[in-house]
Order: sequence, then structure tokens, then C-alpha cells
Amino acid sequence: MDDITLLKQASRQFHPSAEFVKNAAISGMDAYRALCAEAERDYQGFWARLARENLIWQKPFTKALDESDAPFYRWFEDGHLNVSYNCLDRHLVNGNADKTAIIFEADGGEVTRVTYRELHQKVCKLANGLKALGVNKGDRVVIYMPMSIEGIAAMQACARIGAIHSVVFGGFSAKSLQERIIDAGAVAVITSDEQVRGGKSLPLKSIVDQALEMGGCDEVRHVIVHRRTGNMTGQVAGRDLWLADLMAAQSELCEPEWVSAEHPLFILYTSGSTGTPKGVQHASGGFLLWAMLTMKWTFDLKPSDVFWCTADIGWVTGHSYIAYGPLAAGATEIVFEGVPTYPDAGRFWQMIEKHKATIFYTAPTAIRSLIKAADSNPDVHPQQYNLTSLRLLGSVGEPINPDAWLWYYKHIGREQCPIVDTFWQTETGGHMISPLPGATAMVPGSCTLPLPGIMIGVVDEAGRELPDGQGGILVVKRPWPSMIRDIWGDPQRFIKSYFPEELGGKLYLAGDGAIRDVDTGYFTITGRIDDVLNVSGHRMGTMEIESALVAHPLVAEAAVVGKPDTTTGESICAFVVLKRARPAGAEAQLIAAELRNWVAKEIGPIAKPKELRFGDNLPKTRSGKIMRRLLRLLAKGEAVTQDISTLENPAILEQLKEVS
Ligand code: PRX
Repeated sequence: MDDITLLKQASRQFHPSAEFVKNAAISGMDAYRALCAEAERDYQGFWARLARENLIWQKPFTKALDESDAPFYRWFEDGHLNVSYNCLDRHLVNGNADKTAIIFEADGGEVTRVTYRELHQKVCKLANGLKALGVNKGDRVVIYMPMSIEGIAAMQACARIGAIHSVVFGGFSAKSLQERIIDAGAVAVITSDEQVRGGKSLPLKSIVDQALEMGGCDEVRHVIVHRRTGNMTGQVAGRDLWLADLMAAQSELCEPEWVSAEHPLFILYTSGSTGTPKGVQHASGGFLLWAMLTMKWTFDLKPSDVFWCTADIGWVTGHSYIAYGPLAAGATEIVFEGVPTYPDAGRFWQMIEKHKATIFYTAPTAIRSLIKAADSNPDVHPQQYNLTSLRLLGSVGEPINPDAWLWYYKHIGREQCPIVDTFWQTETGGHMISPLPGATAMVPGSCTLPLPGIMIGVVDEAGRELPDGQGGILVVKRPWPSMIRDIWGDPQRFIKSYFPEELGGKLYLAGDGAIRDVDTGYFTITGRIDDVLNVSGHRMGTMEIESALVAHPLVAEAAVVGKPDTTTGESICAFVVLKRARPAGAEAQLIAAELRNWVAKEIGPIAKPKELRFGDNLPKTRSGKIMRRLLRLLAKGEAVTQDISTLENPAILEQLKEVS
């Protein structure tokens, strides 16, 4: 019997060690329950206390929550603060000025460190530079940068002057970038000449040029370029300038812009089940409070910790747990550029050993791919590395299957590190359901219990609460400080997407299904209930991919579904009808390759369908509705056993079984 099978049998629950419990910020279940009870007793008082204790206010707030314009909730609104001041300046006076803030390791392994004092100087110079260019409070700045100290400094600099950043993941195409620049109405773009990942470079600045050339980005006055590799083609006079030149002339001090706690901190685009990506708008005070507090609660951050979140700043995890939370909490954090498999699949383990990481936070997809790599190549097996510095592990972005959990627990955590399986979303700003490492007994595959102050429910389609043990729709029953405030420029869509009338208009709809265990009260996420896919922890709308496909001159119709994948969680499977006869053999393969590249150009390589199938038609009801349920079965290779009498064209199912 192998070790993992033994672990499985040993017990269903995994308990943190007595030592961990003793030293934890939230120590033991009683401490957890006491916090939950405090929130139940006096919800606003609970959050007000935490906001006063954790954030530095230039002007204190007098009221925690304003519900008068629900569901546009406002938290700590008459309080004034600055997010960058809370992340940086506070550490200059508390003895942490010379503490390392960021240990940055580049794709090739070069390491750069900055202290809190140095990061503060960088951010001030960049903030002054932005001001000198005429970027004002409330202006939007798009950041399209690789993982770098400069990328984080750019976000912080925006926050310092009250500008609203919108970070676009470096893997998105020129077209996706253009759409986001237009939607946000950005006045400036901060980018790099190139991005380097896995030894390969990608010309970010040229992609910015292409995006701007596509038109519509009329408000962009400046393109600020960080020199990553020195390879760049073309500069537009009067518009483009080097980041280093902009910063060189600036003072190392920049008075922060004090803003209302409700002032937007950032917009981050994410996919929904319909339409174009949504600009999720977050507020300064509430977002920062939760990013910082969850560093203390979920990650049990101690002054001596070396925290490593492997996400990219292009996603929310990189906002909450790289750019803001760790800095506000005064952590030393590792930031890495690259991919987990370059120069080999031992990169994560080697970096943990080298930098003595104590807390490690990554996605199940990465774990699963590294399990495969370790199985096939003993040289990159974690046992080759000294991982004894680790004391806590985390997982984020998608469900973690129990086998991956157990491997992570045994081989990375040496059966000594608790694992926090954190369920949350771009819209929630920070963790919602997660074990607390010094309190909760863990069950592989379950994100366990809501964080104190987070009121989770499971309801039916009419918004009625369901009993434990019955799967349903995951909702949040009360507003919380780090919640989404609006969809940028589309308040009606905000209401429809997150506070739908069918559920009564008061419950926040996460878009996930969940079930709560009868005995433990633990939650298990059962997957999205809408047409959103999760591929390698990246969120994508099926409709976006379908729109990209039908924009190709050859395509008449397309339907996209998710297919379970043992590494990426889900993979993209596209069913396509061409405007000409159904292709076969080599021709089908050629067109499939063409369409894949097309989608990469339209959206980004992460949206490329893994599988493409061609049909003369799609399975439709007599009223013309595409039967996605059947397509999902076909994608999985499962037999269609249910009644298909409502189907207009049953013969089509046979055709769509074939992969091109
Ligand atoms: O379906 C859930 C899944 O990821 C979605 C949110 O994606 P995004 O906004 O991109 O944020 C990802 C990083 C927080 C959720 O609606 N998800 C996220 N974490 C988990 C998860 N599913 C199961 N377990 C998790 N721990």
C-alpha cells in the first residue's frame, strides 16, 4: 500500500499540531467561535473594531456600514486613509524600515531584494512621476507588466496618488488589452519592453502598441516602459517614456493622497457567464482591511515568516496576497517571475529551500503538474530539496482533489504543515471559506468553515436556505468590507450578476454550488453553476471563447464547454460548425490549429481550446436552443443515455463524438 493510501486511511480529519495551535493568531476552535460570535452579536461593531485596530486612518470613520443604497454597500465611508501609506510608511516608523519587503527571483534565477525603506522610495518616485505626467486622483492606469518589483511598485504608486489601477495579465492579447483600456478609460499604460517566462520572451510593449493602434483608446496619453530585457522596437515620441527616466528626476518623498475608504482602489477584469469581462471594482479601506487581516488569520503571519504566493499580479490573488496584504502586514515576501517548470519542475522546491520560505501558497493545477513531473523524474522530486523551513501551505483558485491535497501534505508539508484550502473570488477581495491553521481540523477537498464575519449560506433557486447535506447555491448573506462595490460603468449588471432578484435581491450570489456537511458544518464547493470555466485556476467565460470563435471568417457557430482534466482541473472543448462543409482528416487538423491560434490572438493563449470538434450542426432543441448538457457529456466521452426526444437533430451527436 502506498503512503498516500495509508494517509487516507489514517483519518479523515487532519489536525494542526499542538505547537502550531499554541502560537497561532487564532488559537483553537474556541477562539474561532468567539470571533464568529462577536460578529453575530454586533456585526458592525465587529468590523469597526478590526478596521480601527488594523488600519491607520488619517481621519477616523464614524460609521462602519452604510446600507442605504443597497446592494451598493459602503464601508467606513467617512474615514480617510491611504492604502500605500498603510502598506509602506507604517513600517518606516515601527522598526521595520530595513526589513526585506520583497525577495524577487527572476526567470533566470537572479535575485533582487528591497527593504521597506527602498520600496517606499521607489513607490514615492513613481507616484511623483505619475503626478508630473498629470495623472490625478480617480484617473485609471492600466498596468500590463511581468512579475517584478516595479509591477508591485506601480500598483502601490497608483494607490499613493489615488489613481485607480487596472492590472491586465501579461498573457492577454492586444485585443483583450485594448478592450480593457477602453472600458476603464485609462489615461496611461505602464508596461515592460518584454516579459520573460520559462526562458521565452514576449514583447509586451509591442502588444501595447498594437492595442493602442486598434483605436478607441483615445484617453491614453502616456505609455511608461520598464526595461526588463532591453529589447524594444519603436518609441512613440511624446507618448512613450522609460520608467527609469521618469523616476530619476523625482523626489523620494511623496505625500500620500488621503482618500475616503470608499475611493476605488482598483478595477480588475474577470469573466462572467455572459458578455464581455466585468470590471470588478474594489474600494480602498475594506479591501485592504481584509487583505491584511487574512494574512494574519488564514496565513497566521508572524514577523519572522517568509511568505510566498506564486500567483501573478494580473489576477486577484496577486492583488490581495502579493501587492497589498503581505506589505500591509509587514511580511517579507518572495515574488517570482517565470513558470513552475523552468528551468525544471524543481523550481518551486529549489526556491523554497534557497529563500527559506515558511508559508507557501499556490494553485492545485501547479501541484498536480509537479506531482506528474516528480513521478517521472526523481531529480525534481521534492524529497531532493530541504523544505524544512515550511510551516504552512495554502491552496487557491480551484478545488483541490484529495489526492493532490494528500501529496501536498506529505511531500511538501512533511505531514507537519496545515493546509489552508482558501475559497474566494475576484469579487470577494479576500478569503471567504478556509481552515484557520491553528484551529480547524482539515478534511482534504473541503475548504471547511467561513472566516469570522463572513456569513455563508446554501440556498435553492428561490433563495430559500437549504438544510445541511443538501447541495445548492452558495451565497453570502451579509455584506462584508472587501466585497466588490460595482462593475465599472455598469451598475445594472452589478445588481443582476451578484444580487439577482430571483434570490430576493439581498443575497450575494457567488456563482458556485456548495454543500455543507451535516456533522461538521464544513463546506465543499461543488463547482460553478454558470457558464464560467476554471482552467488551471484561470477563470474564463464560455461565451467569450464562443464569440472569439465565431468572429473567425470560417466559423458559423460554436459552443464551448468544460471537460474535466486531471492536471488543469477543467479544459476547454469547442464544438464548431463551419460556413463550409465539415472538414475531416488533415484538413480538420489544419483548421483546428488555425482556430486555436485565432482564439489566442483574440483573447490570449490561456483561452485556446484544447479540443475542437466539427459538426454539420450543434445539438439543438426544436426551439433552437443549444443543448450544452449533451455537449458536456460528449466532451467527457460519456454515453448519452437520457431522453433526447426534444432534440431537433439527434444524428448530430454521433458526429460530435470525434475529436479533430
Ligand atoms: O469557482 C470558484 C473557484 O474560482 C472561482 C473564482 O475565480 P477567480 O475570481 O478567478 O479567483 C480565483 C482566486 C481566488 C470561484 O468562484 N475557486 C477559487 N478558490 C477555490 C475555488 N473552488 C474551490 N475551492 C477553492 N479553494
